[in-house]
Amino acid sequence: MNCWLEDRKKRFEKLFTKEELVNPHMAVVKPCLYELRWLKKASMDYLASIVNYPEYKDEEDLLKEFQTCHDIGFVTNITPTGMILPKRNTSLQYNTFLKAFYKLVMKTDVGPKLKSCHTPAHLRVKWPLAVEKDLDRPRHAPEDLHFDSWSGYSSQSMTFLLGILGDVSGNRVRYFQPKESYDEDWLLNKPTPEFLRKHYDVIDYTPKYGEIVILDTCVLHQTYRDSGCGIRFSIDNLFLSKEELAWPQNIEKHREDELTDPMLLKDVGTECFYFCTDNDDERKDTKGGAIDPTNYDFYTRPKNITYRIYDE
Ligand SMILES: [Fe+2]
Repeated sequence: MNCWLEDRKKRFEKLFTKEELVNPHMAVVKPCLYELRWLKKASMDYLASIVNYPEYKDEEDLLKEFQTCHDIGFVTNITPTGMILPKRNTSLQYNTFLKAFYKLVMKTDVGPKLKSCHTPAHLRVKWPLAVEKDLDRPRHAPEDLHFDSWSGYSSQSMTFLLGILGDVSGNRVRYFQPKESYDEDWLLNKPTPEFLRKHYDVIDYTPKYGEIVILDTCVLHQTYRDSGCGIRFSIDNLFLSKEELAWPQNIEKHREDELTDPMLLKDVGTECFYFCTDNDDERKDTKGGAIDPTNYDFYTRPKNITYRIYDE
């Protein structure tokens, strides 16, 4: 095997069990069902706060309302790639959602082996059909074959994908594994799709509800929809493991500043908090897709509090 792929394979063998490995560069982890229920509930409450619909009956009812509100132009906090951006009025529900997500990830067996993650994480929506004008992106559309490192993320990262609401199997991500002649340079300098297809094989795997699919950066992928699929909501977040590869990572400066310890993030609300500062019509300039479009202040609880005692 190619030496780069060999090293990446060894890292995955240290991070995951044989049962979890779908192939040398992709794993499927099943989180605790109890934490999954909390995350589902937190995701629904977050969506309900966006469309101002506290009385939703169930998942189906909420997703229908969300689609309707979006179609009449009421939902304005979504980027062309489907990122749902937290705003001042949804800050509280966003923090609850994040807490549930990081608690779920950190309770899996791979959790303690993780060092950092790219933040802020987002809930994403994928509509049943791609919107033509959204496919023209400064770097690449999620529907194009791509590596996440093309967005400036660490070349040593692992993408965690978790479908949480809606049609998570029909409206999904399609993965491709490298053949023998892989080159690390492809993670940085974009070869053509035709070239990549020649060096990659499609992975026959359809994600199911309750699974976190974990991809090494060398796994090529794209958003993929079966015909007639429904709306889907998911979380994709990039993590770095404590176990490093044999060569230095490539990472863009802005992306390096985004790295946060997931051990801290599992305690959102008690040890730290995201105060999202944008109103509905405000959004950060992403500098052509180089940085996250959310304006926020991140607070951590002071470790040492000095109390002053005053004499009466
Ligand atoms: Fe991606």
